[in-house]
Amino acid sequence: MAKSLNGQTATAVTVALALCFSVAPQADGRWPHGGGANVVLVTCDSLDGRLTFAPKNQTIELPNINFMKDRGAVFLNAYSNSPICCPSRAALWSGLYPHLTESWNNYKCLSNDYPTWMDILKNYGYYTKVYGKTDYTSGHHSISNRVEAWTRDVEFLLRQEGRPTTALIGNETTVRVMDRDWENTDKAVEWIRYKATQLSQPFVLSLGLNLPHPYPTPSMGEACGGSTFKTSPYWLKKVSYELVSIPKWLPFFEMHPVDYYSSYTKNCTSDFTQKEIKNIRAFYYAMCAEMDLMLGKIFSALYDTGLQNNTYIIFTSDHGELAMEHRQFYKMSMYEGSSHVPLLLVGPGVSGGQQISNLVSLVDIFPTILDIAGVPFVGNLSGFSLLPLLSRGLRKKISFNNSRPNWVLSEFHGCNVNASTYMFRTGKWKYIAYADGVSIPSQLFDLIADPDELTNVATKYPEVTNILDGKLHSILNYPEVSKSVHRYNKLQFINWKESLGENYTNVIANLRWHQDWQKDPMTYQNAIEQWLCFGTDAYGSQF
Ligand SMILES: *[C@@H]1O[C@H](CO)[C@@H](O)[C@H](O)[C@H]1NC(C)=O
Ligand SMILES: *[C@@H]1O[C@H](CO)[C@@H](O)[C@H](O)[C@H]1NC(C)=O
Ligand SMILES: *[C@@H]1O[C@H](CO)[C@@H](O)[C@H](O)[C@H]1NC(C)=O
Ligand SMILES: *[C@@H]1O[C@H](CO)[C@@H](O)[C@H](O)[C@H]1NC(C)=O
Ligand SMILES: *[C@@H]1O[C@H](CO)[C@@H](O)[C@H](O)[C@H]1NC(C)=O
Ligand SMILES: *[C@@H]1O[C@H](CO)[C@@H](O)[C@H](O)[C@H]1NC(C)=O
Ligand SMILES: *[C@@H]1O[C@H](CO)[C@@H](O)[C@H](O)[C@H]1NC(C)=O
Ligand SMILES: *[C@@H]1O[C@H](CO)[C@@H](O)[C@H](O)[C@H]1NC(C)=O
Repeated sequence: MAKSLNGQTATAVTVALALCFSVAPQADGRWPHGGGANVVLVTCDSLDGRLTFAPKNQTIELPNINFMKDRGAVFLNAYSNSPICCPSRAALWSGLYPHLTESWNNYKCLSNDYPTWMDILKNYGYYTKVYGKTDYTSGHHSISNRVEAWTRDVEFLLRQEGRPTTALIGNETTVRVMDRDWENTDKAVEWIRYKATQLSQPFVLSLGLNLPHPYPTPSMGEACGGSTFKTSPYWLKKVSYELVSIPKWLPFFEMHPVDYYSSYTKNCTSDFTQKEIKNIRAFYYAMCAEMDLMLGKIFSALYDTGLQNNTYIIFTSDHGELAMEHRQFYKMSMYEGSSHVPLLLVGPGVSGGQQISNLVSLVDIFPTILDIAGVPFVGNLSGFSLLPLLSRGLRKKISFNNSRPNWVLSEFHGCNVNASTYMFRTGKWKYIAYADGVSIPSQLFDLIADPDELTNVATKYPEVTNILDGKLHSILNYPEVSKSVHRYNKLQFINWKESLGENYTNVIANLRWHQDWQKDPMTYQNAIEQWLCFGTDAYGSQF
């Protein structure tokens, strides 16, 4: 199922990751456990996973997430496989690491006809329904977004995002702020109450929410990203304001160069007052609480109809939100606020109050859903079913490969980060390698001693760094992957430039970076020309 990759990278990578599930269907062709359980997957956008457990859950009460914790399992160490919307969702829906499907950025992910776990369930007789955001296929997001990703190696530094800010709307009775999410939640609730209850076959429902992703900043124009944290007094008063921490920032000269690039392009390198930072964080938490209520509506519908008896509910997010940690907002970073996601699961036979500390990631959702449904799968997947991790070893009759490793992999190849990034997380360590692993310093964090990830100990513990880098290499030939992204970026940019003809100069000057670009268009155009000329072989061999 994995699309073929070019060259040696592909072979090395595919062989290393060929975690082959080979399971026989039930001989009698019947559902392995009495009719096939239903699955509801709720995926929100930008929820920092650490808010689902102590101690970070003190700042905002998330009653429906707490309900899931009471009734089922919370995964304490769940990660996004690529902390940005589309590539992360591509991993979730394909069950493969982003480099295996070449899900390089918000524009380039899976093809429209890519067979996801939902397609497989459909083939096995499931009724399938999708509400709200999916965002795992190619072709979406703004032109700015993709051009920023393609030009990340150009030697210039331009602000691309609006400065993060807050907006308070409505009054103390304003519950519904994110209208589109509420519309989709209402539709999903209605569907559960009036359609799901009538079905004679098992179903799978996916609800994709936008919250707590920040909202567009209107003053930044149409193509702007989302830098406004918006809520109402109703939600804001639920935040324990006095417990909202002010994250520690490194001085500029101590920042990792790639972090500085991120912070600058996200327009976060100017001064912020403590009050501004605290407000951004408080508003973000309030937005999380609004999302939590949507989750609650789904639960009410399932419990009111009795469907919960045969339904597994999985809740997660595509990535987190830095909310001004490390002098950044948004994601695109391997720091915990961005890469650590919530993951909770409830359902028949799952005992309550389970806190599971195994390292897991979004590629595990695919085999988990198939495992729940008792549907066999022959093919390569990057993840493993979560069910064997649950207490009392909730295992279906079909035995999925249970050789889960004690690490997770995350990678990033998109905008706001000027080098492909690879995170290898194991034990207390988080190792982050960039590009070819040599030209840009790696990072190593001891998450127990340094949970805020402010002290890079890569050179202090060279032997640990070497071992982890070796392990990362054994999973994927990351310098080669980085090279293919370089080639891809340059080729895409050239094609785009050519397609614009004489309009190029005007179009590029008016992307999200227009404020900065138009101050000195010649310098930035020249930087692009230099980047395009660099190297003699086609489309850039330089590294
Ligand atoms: C299970 O996956 C591991 C890789 O983690 C692989 O080595 C092993 O052969 C697989 N076992 C089966 C039965 O597929
Ligand atoms: C935070 O999570 C812990 C368990 O992880 C739980 O005991 C506590 O009640 C939660 N606090 C809030 C405010 O939800
Ligand atoms: C960046 O933030 C400044 C305020 O610090 C604002 O005036 C400007 O419009 C923002 N620029 C971009 C490109 O977002
Ligand atoms: C809050 O806003 C709603 C809708 O605009 C309005 O009907 C209501 O009177 C307001 N309540 C208060 C207490 O101001
Ligand atoms: C990334 O950007 C930073 C900040 O401009 C710069 O110091 C660094 O050299 C860049 N790294 C790469 C690989 O381009
Ligand atoms: C669901 O399970 C509960 C507890 O086992 C039972 O009391 C209830 O009747 C069941 N509801 C339906 C609709 O099957
Ligand atoms: C799984 O990967 C192996 C090794 O690269 C490949 O030979 C095989 O065709 C793949 N299987 C599927 C079903 O994609
Ligand atoms: C350039 O822009 C003009 C005006 O919008 C349009 O008519 C023309 O087709 C564009 N040329 C190209 C090559 O896209």
